[in-house]
Amino acid sequence: MTDRTTASGGALLATSDLHISYEENRDIVRGLRPRTPEDWLIVAGDIGELVADVEWTLGLLKERFAEVVWAPGNHELWTHPSDPVQLRGVERYQRLVELCRGLGVHSPEDPYPVWPGPDGPVRIAPLFVGYDYTFRPPGTATKAQALARAHDTGVVCADEYMLHPDPYPSREAWCRARVAATEERLAALDPAVPTVLANHYPLVRQPTDVLYYPEFAQWCGTTATADWHTRFNVAAVVYGHLHIPRTTHYDGVRFEEVSVGYPREWRRRGGAAPSGLRQILPEAAKR
Ligand SMILES: [Fe+2]
Ligand SMILES: [Fe+2]
Repeated sequence: MTDRTTASGGALLATSDLHISYEENRDIVRGLRPRTPEDWLIVAGDIGELVADVEWTLGLLKERFAEVVWAPGNHELWTHPSDPVQLRGVERYQRLVELCRGLGVHSPEDPYPVWPGPDGPVRIAPLFVGYDYTFRPPGTATKAQALARAHDTGVVCADEYMLHPDPYPSREAWCRARVAATEERLAALDPAVPTVLANHYPLVRQPTDVLYYPEFAQWCGTTATADWHTRFNVAAVVYGHLHIPRTTHYDGVRFEEVSVGYPREWRRRGGAAPSGLRQILPEAAKR
């Protein structure tokens, strides 16, 4: 019998929230190496705020990994005053997509690549669906109420000041357009091939239930994607943004939060710098 594990020995790995404006985190990126030359890597957003930093990171990783798959985080989409690239909204996102194409990195705007895998092919779908303020804090019924609560408690995401939705009138309008276009693409896929969905935000609300500040959930996703993990043939969902790395299951589907987070956060979790890599497939228990 053929050993299919050695026939295609690579793994599908994932990371997110590298936040390389912190020198300690830049060191973590310098240490990200594949375990075999066939390993693929998903980078699920929040590399940093500067276009040059995104280019440095993805360029380095593409030299090392067989394939690199990127989904944008909110920090890449900020128009940060210290970035010489002052593009906003969709234009900024498009600049990042072109950067990926120049490097040979897969973005949400390209055909979804198929990872060969030891147990058969798995499609890897990087997504950009944003958030629309529908993960509201308890006791609030509208976006206005949710935002007012956040301002009252002092927990306001910097996106409000730096993530511009141009030419859309609002971040939630941009999110709605992204949801519609992405849903159409996923619905057109061959359902016989399982798919890993990689998005900066969790596609369901439950992971935000453990946030220290419940007001922050409104910047963490949309209820419009709540059934995607069951509607489509999903092998696993990869996300970041929460800076709470862990594995959970919803409706029997594995969700992997793969963030590195800020140095003060990973130091609190155990002191030593994290490796920054999580194996998604083959699933560890099945190896
Ligand atoms: Fe982050
Ligand atoms: Fe984020």
